[in-house]
Amino acid sequence: RHGLQTQCVGREIHFEEVLDSTNNVAKRLAAAGAADGTIVVAEQQTGGKGRLERRFFSPAGKGIWFSVILRPPFMPQEAPKCTLLAAVAVAKAMERFGLPAGIKWPNDLLYENRKLVGILTEMSAEMDRINHIVIGIGINVNILPQEFPAEIRKTATSLQAVNGGKPVPRVKFFQAVLEALDALYAEVATQGFALVLAAWRKYTITLRQEVRVIGVRDGEEYTGIAADIDEDGALLVDAADGRHRVLAGDVSIRPK
Ligand code: BTN
Repeated sequence: RHGLQTQCVGREIHFEEVLDSTNNVAKRLAAAGAADGTIVVAEQQTGGKGRLERRFFSPAGKGIWFSVILRPPFMPQEAPKCTLLAAVAVAKAMERFGLPAGIKWPNDLLYENRKLVGILTEMSAEMDRINHIVIGIGINVNILPQEFPAEIRKTATSLQAVNGGKPVPRVKFFQAVLEALDALYAEVATQGFALVLAAWRKYTITLRQEVRVIGVRDGEEYTGIAADIDEDGALLVDAADGRHRVLAGDVSIRPK
């Protein structure tokens, strides 16, 4: 366990060299009763999944591809905030390593408009309670620009690139992410999400920007100014026809 200092996150670790998708494996383990905080880690994913049915590039030995199973005692409406929590955890780890990054709503981490980290949350819930949440986190650690597939070469980057070409120690960075996740998860259990939302506001690059919103469900498209997030983690966008409330996972947003 490399001296991992956590209470809950990573208390059980499932590691494999190759998996199709750590989210898929985590969902199976969760359905079979895996404990709160269990993580699934792969050195390589052959079918890494992104949001909106996209694929996620996950080559061997160069990134951190993992999923964490959470069983929080909240209502399903609180789940989007767990995704914001995960983005804040990675942003805090980056800060500890002196690496700059900003969170694009809801949860990508970007540097100079290129993606460093993607997060995919999948939930199983009943009416009034979360059964489990699987938060999948993909971190491009030591990938050189020319190693990205051509389709994402202009839109992706890595910690190594942000670090001026110097490789970033993968296991140490992973530990820092797990410790940050663990600390934030413990914090919300006792104090709620207020501090997570405040930290998210500190790390985000989306607020006060002009954004283009495309509703995934209704295909509605509009442009507005991202004013704030509300207590549910929804993005508040001021458009010509008034204020829209955009829920996590409902839209894709890109700077104009
Ligand atoms: C996105 O950028 O749209 C989200 C990407 C999420 C990628 C991670 S890698 C670990 C986990 N397993 C997956 O199949 N996807 C997530």
